[in-house]
Amino acid sequence: MPSVLITGTNRGIGLELARQYVADGWRVFATCRDLLACEALENLEKEHDELSVHQLDVTDHIAIEALAADLAGTPIDVLVNNAGVLGGQGFGEGAPDQQFGSMDYGIWARAFEVNTMTAMKFAEAFADNVAASEKKIMAAITSDMGSLTVMEGGFYAYRSSKAALNVVMKCLSGDLRDRGIIALVLHPGWVRTDMGTKAGEISVEESVTGLRAVIDGLTLSDSGKFLSYEGREIPW
Ligand SMILES: NC(=O)c1ccc[n+]([C@@H]2O[C@H](COP(=O)([O-])OP(=O)(O)OC[C@H]3O[C@@H](n4cnc5c(N)ncnc54)[C@H](OP(=O)(O)O)[C@@H]3O)[C@@H](O)[C@H]2O)c1
Repeated sequence: MPSVLITGTNRGIGLELARQYVADGWRVFATCRDLLACEALENLEKEHDELSVHQLDVTDHIAIEALAADLAGTPIDVLVNNAGVLGGQGFGEGAPDQQFGSMDYGIWARAFEVNTMTAMKFAEAFADNVAASEKKIMAAITSDMGSLTVMEGGFYAYRSSKAALNVVMKCLSGDLRDRGIIALVLHPGWVRTDMGTKAGEISVEESVTGLRAVIDGLTLSDSGKFLSYEGREIPW
């Protein structure tokens, strides 16, 4: 049975990833920051023996190490770093706290902690588990808002932390290649979640169906790529 470890699974894209993978017969390790705010995930856990919920704030490196110790020796086919923050106020409000002239530097640091550094810490903690698996995939959910090629102004915290996440995953693709690990970043589309708002272009089901199909088709030659949920290459 293939296995997947997903972060940020109490809502949005992470919850749908957990739902679809467990429905497809995968073993799912689902992490969630606040066990008091994960009712849908807990219901999923009750329905499926193959899904376990693990409390974890992705900025808590000691908790990440503790989870890695719990799962030592367990192969993990796919590691999905999904948890992320836009930083401060959302799209709906236009995120004035990360625009030129009114930048909130605390929010910026926090975005780097959650969106960027976490991927490195998870890679360090779980490289052995992924290397011991059949599929050997480390995927991080990034955003096309982190693409330097298509970047315009605004959203400094979000854009820069996702662009830096892309750098981390690109470097991991080099450092982990000789262990057969495929490391890459995936853009989920503009999705109707709390972060993407109701104005999003696609449903969470459509995004995750696409992301899973892309993950399914990966080979080592895809390591270091920046792909959309449709499998399209996005310029860095
Ligand atoms: N929606 C879009 O249009 C879109 C587009 C491009 C990229 N993305 C990316 O896709 C990923 C998922 O986004 P989404 O749309 O599903 O967003 P969402 O609905 O806002 O969900 C974000 C998830 O991340 C978790 N999270 C945030 N900070 C965390 C922390 N410190 N520790 C653990 N979990 C934490 C949240 O948990 P809590 O409930 O505890 O806060 C929640 O489960 C993100 O990386 C996002 O940047 C989304």
